[in-house]
Amino acid sequence: MSIVYDERSGVFKIDTENTSYVTALVDEKKYLGHVYYGRKIGDVNTTHLLRLDEDAEVPSKRPGEDLKFMDTFRFEYPVFGQGDMRKCCLNVKNRARSNSCELCFDGYRIFKGKEKLPGLPATFGSEKDCETLEIGLKDEKLGLKVILSYTAFEKEDVITRHARMSNASDDALTLHSALSLCLDMDNRDYDLLTLSGRWASERHIIRRRIVRGHQGVSSMRGVSSHQANPFMAVLGKNADCDEGEVYGFSLVYSGNFIANAELGSYDDLRLVMGINPDEFEWKLDSKEEFCTPEVIMTFSDKGLNGMSHNFHDVIRQHLIRGKYKDIKRPILINNWEATYFDFDADKLVSIAKKASESGIEMLVLDDGWFGKRNDDTTSLGDWFVNEDKIKGGLKALVDRVNSYGMKFGLWFEPEMVSPVSEYFKKHPDHVLKNPERKPVLGRNQLVLDFSRKEVRDEVYGMMKKILESANIEYVKWDMNRALANVASESLPADEQGELYHRYVLGVYDLMDRLTADFPNILLENCSSGGGRFDAGMLYYSPQIWCSDDTDAIERLTIQEGTALCYPLSAMGAHIADCPSHSTGRNIPFKTRGNVALCGTFGYELDITKIPESDREMIPAQTAEYHKYNHIFRTGDYYRIASYSENGEYDLYMSVTKDKSEAVATYVRVKAPVSGYRSLNVRFKGLAEEKRYKVFFDDEEKGCFYGDTLMNAGLQIRDVYGDYGSVLLYFKEV
Ligand code: DGJ
Repeated sequence: MSIVYDERSGVFKIDTENTSYVTALVDEKKYLGHVYYGRKIGDVNTTHLLRLDEDAEVPSKRPGEDLKFMDTFRFEYPVFGQGDMRKCCLNVKNRARSNSCELCFDGYRIFKGKEKLPGLPATFGSEKDCETLEIGLKDEKLGLKVILSYTAFEKEDVITRHARMSNASDDALTLHSALSLCLDMDNRDYDLLTLSGRWASERHIIRRRIVRGHQGVSSMRGVSSHQANPFMAVLGKNADCDEGEVYGFSLVYSGNFIANAELGSYDDLRLVMGINPDEFEWKLDSKEEFCTPEVIMTFSDKGLNGMSHNFHDVIRQHLIRGKYKDIKRPILINNWEATYFDFDADKLVSIAKKASESGIEMLVLDDGWFGKRNDDTTSLGDWFVNEDKIKGGLKALVDRVNSYGMKFGLWFEPEMVSPVSEYFKKHPDHVLKNPERKPVLGRNQLVLDFSRKEVRDEVYGMMKKILESANIEYVKWDMNRALANVASESLPADEQGELYHRYVLGVYDLMDRLTADFPNILLENCSSGGGRFDAGMLYYSPQIWCSDDTDAIERLTIQEGTALCYPLSAMGAHIADCPSHSTGRNIPFKTRGNVALCGTFGYELDITKIPESDREMIPAQTAEYHKYNHIFRTGDYYRIASYSENGEYDLYMSVTKDKSEAVATYVRVKAPVSGYRSLNVRFKGLAEEKRYKVFFDDEEKGCFYGDTLMNAGLQIRDVYGDYGSVLLYFKEV
């Protein structure tokens, strides 16, 4: 059993295969405090860690020092108002605008399996996969009930958390913050690691020492954002890829968020994560309930690679759903960088025909097929085919593409509308905007008010018609601007604070409908590249376009950061044309292929125009995808060396769960200048006692034991010059 409650000590203990999480009731079982999270421990009762016999005695024993207790105790779910001055999870006011709240124990429940979160994406699991603990807390005066929910995925060393608030009073309450997670712990000289960036440079790894005060990441863009990913890790200062303690947290949410680490006056570290309280307000009428998004949390003492394994396993098995969850995705060719808006049906068919000859399996028609869209100034919202460009209509085009044995996929940007569009003429009131101000444009477009069902219905009606009109097997759902000037015509003034969150719930609702009505469609998310690459989106789409930067060298850094939390099976990665449209850099076709191979794989170029010598390499690349994809997609990923750290080369590998096969990608970004021209590399994750035949780009290089490859290493030669690369394949003999 992975969860126990010890009645005598008031301790709840959650165990996974290698970790323990302990929370306990103190002061005559009144308050819930956080005791421990980390490597697995044997004892149930470890409440000595709460130091209740020291200064911070409980209020019942030292009533004159309530405040001291409130401001130093490790609350499991801290609330603002009664004296905890650190960042709190919950800030609630009643009609009198008083915001003092005190949550006291109100029962618990333990059960096998996991329940759904209403309206929100979340991990799932059967009674065999996981066990759930719910702890009830209550503020008698406010009539507020809070249920803290913890699900242990034992095998994956993952615990998920969320909270539900319900109003048991007869009067309305207002939530001013409602976070998903708090974790109070001793500071052991930890570092904070986040994934930060900007458009075309998403999820770069930023590691910093945690110092007194606040540090963290957040978004107020209405989406999780290019700038900050809803992820953080806290790790020992000596922790690296393979060793050391690492705590990882991923928020299953796609809107405004915060992830904050606060080092307090007594060297106590408080981590919080959840919906960004800025601009958040939620009116909780009598008998209503509010549910926070879920946090996926893991601990590993095997460094960052250990943390990544846990996240990848739980996301692949217990978050991603649908037909494509466990299968290889079709190799696609997308026309965006090939044609931008300048295409017609014949052009698309010529790309599809040529692609089909090289083993490519699907044509994706990107932006510009609808309304009167010939550039980015018009037609979003007009989801009907532009027959000037696609003569004969969509079905005729799709049939022609299908006739070459190619599947067909289509781009949408459902949340947006162009002011120059039929849609906007008909429904100018459907956009998010403050009625007293000019709407704020981004990429010439406005954001539809997805908090409103009638708006979602209108958009979905058009999408459904298109999707039913032809054999469309893939949808790319794009989103190309942040939210600003956010107000809704449908909400009263005192509920406008709900809008950002209602917008996200509306997006989830439409993605739910789309995936339920079209279960065979492969959905890929995208937001100006990777502006919404988060665990929330992965509940609806098994893959997300990583970045608009398709330069393979830039992608090394982006994909390294992405893979820290998200599985390679989710990383949209394509081979693009050169000189790179992102950087102007020229990179060998082979290296562009090797870098894209670990992701969902595809092409983003005009195959009819690229040099013959490049095109000739495509059949071999698509064959490699079929040969290696199961290893990247289902295996354990190991980071060995990072170009963004060493400035010279990148090296990572994936090993099948049974350790019978592995594939490593080596990219020499900067040519070696002197000395040996080879690099002696130690590989990871292999079985010591197994013997592997090793191939460099299909050329056999000999047989070695796993322990030799991992301890003594192997020389990688022959990768001269900038941007050279080699793929290494290990096969058990
Ligand atoms: C942004 C995406 O990231 C691109 O791949 C492309 O789909 C464009 N939008 C189209 O407008």
